[in-house]
Amino acid sequence: MKLWGGRFTKETNQLAHDFNASLSFDQRFYRQDIDGSIAHVNMLAKQGIVTSEERFAILNGLEGIKSDIENGILEISPEYEDIHSFVEATLIERIGDTGKKLHTGRSRNDQVALDMKLYVRDEIAETDGLLSELLKVILRIMKENTSTYMPGFTHLQKAQPVTLAHHFGAYFEMFRRDRGRLSDIRKRMNSCPLGAGALAGTTYPLDRDFTADFLGFDEATRNSMDSVSDRDYIIEYLSALSTIMMHLSRFCEEIIIWNSNEYRFVELDDSYSTGSSIMPQKKNPDIAELVRGKTGRVYGALISILTTMKGLPLAYNKDMQEDKELTFDAIDTTNGCIALFTGMADTMTFNRDNMAKSAMAGFTNATDAADYLVNNGVAFRDAHGIIGQLVLLCLEKNISLGELPLDEYQKISPVFKEDIYEAISLETCVEKRLTKGAPGSKAMNAVIKECEAYLEEGKDE
Ligand code: ARG
Repeated sequence: MKLWGGRFTKETNQLAHDFNASLSFDQRFYRQDIDGSIAHVNMLAKQGIVTSEERFAILNGLEGIKSDIENGILEISPEYEDIHSFVEATLIERIGDTGKKLHTGRSRNDQVALDMKLYVRDEIAETDGLLSELLKVILRIMKENTSTYMPGFTHLQKAQPVTLAHHFGAYFEMFRRDRGRLSDIRKRMNSCPLGAGALAGTTYPLDRDFTADFLGFDEATRNSMDSVSDRDYIIEYLSALSTIMMHLSRFCEEIIIWNSNEYRFVELDDSYSTGSSIMPQKKNPDIAELVRGKTGRVYGALISILTTMKGLPLAYNKDMQEDKELTFDAIDTTNGCIALFTGMADTMTFNRDNMAKSAMAGFTNATDAADYLVNNGVAFRDAHGIIGQLVLLCLEKNISLGELPLDEYQKISPVFKEDIYEAISLETCVEKRLTKGAPGSKAMNAVIKECEAYLEEGKDE
């Protein structure tokens, strides 16, 4: 059954029907579609547009359809154009002519705008919940590793020593910001388009505030043309998902590097690794690589919807139907990747000795050696030059600064005393960094406390 057969004299070409139809993908939000209809019919009855008997019959019918779909009793049959047609036709089939009153004062344009908003709102909550689980795992690893020393990198070259807690703390901040972004979007999108009609409102005395309130929106939208043609919230959500994927991808890249034979910082659990069909020794970080790989797919959805929207005149255009498949795919991809990454992170183990060894090589304490001179009255630029010479000497001898004998130090500057070794030990280099946000364990513990409180409050910012 079509919702619009009246003015047509010919059947739709089959290919045209298939091309136009959205049921195969918009059935995903059947629940939201029915919830929207429930709100609508309650409002119609309150306004005296349908009688309370009609309301009762329609509500019963809709609830029945919802639970029958949920229980697998009612199959969504593929000949319908979209989920809206399917629900309405099934309602009429089940309760008779009264069902024909459901669509009073409504268009599929405001209906689909509502369904998609309700759906995205639910998915935002899902993504947020997954991120908070990930943050819990990151925080646990942070708490256990405030004294796990490792090299910090710039340009992928060893720079200064940090701790694993500090490194993971950086990702905690990223995913925390991601949650903040989701919460912003949720607030901004929370206005109800139902009642906007096709584009110009309706002549029925609808109470749009009632419907908005019924569905948990903060308000009804203020412009009916914008209501049916706004997809900003989808763009914002896809942008937030893209940023989450970018963060996950960076994290995966590091785990792949740390898992390499050369680094051996991290051991992935067997349950999150895969083998090779030919090389028996291999244990590959496929999950991390796939998360990194799938990032492009989510970016693609964002670029796709931006491009779809860029040339559309007001108000509704069928182009907008393209907002669904890619968005659904991006949501499934991102939510799936967060969950998998969380499991992988939760089960991986760290090779603390290798990390510390690596932090001791590569002159990660050179800055601290220069600071030692500064603390003993040498100007920083001169200190920089002196340590540069010492590094060169060590490179020639193939040793670290800690292994260079004191007399070699003193040949270049008499300022050096025995306490230089203590000043450039790995522990000192990290523990002396105590400014807010630095890796020293005192500073780190303060941040961990704050992160704990943030997760406990469940506050989204
Ligand atoms: N399947 C359509 C969509 O996703 C529903 C709205 C149809 N509106 C219309 N005027 N044809 O956008």
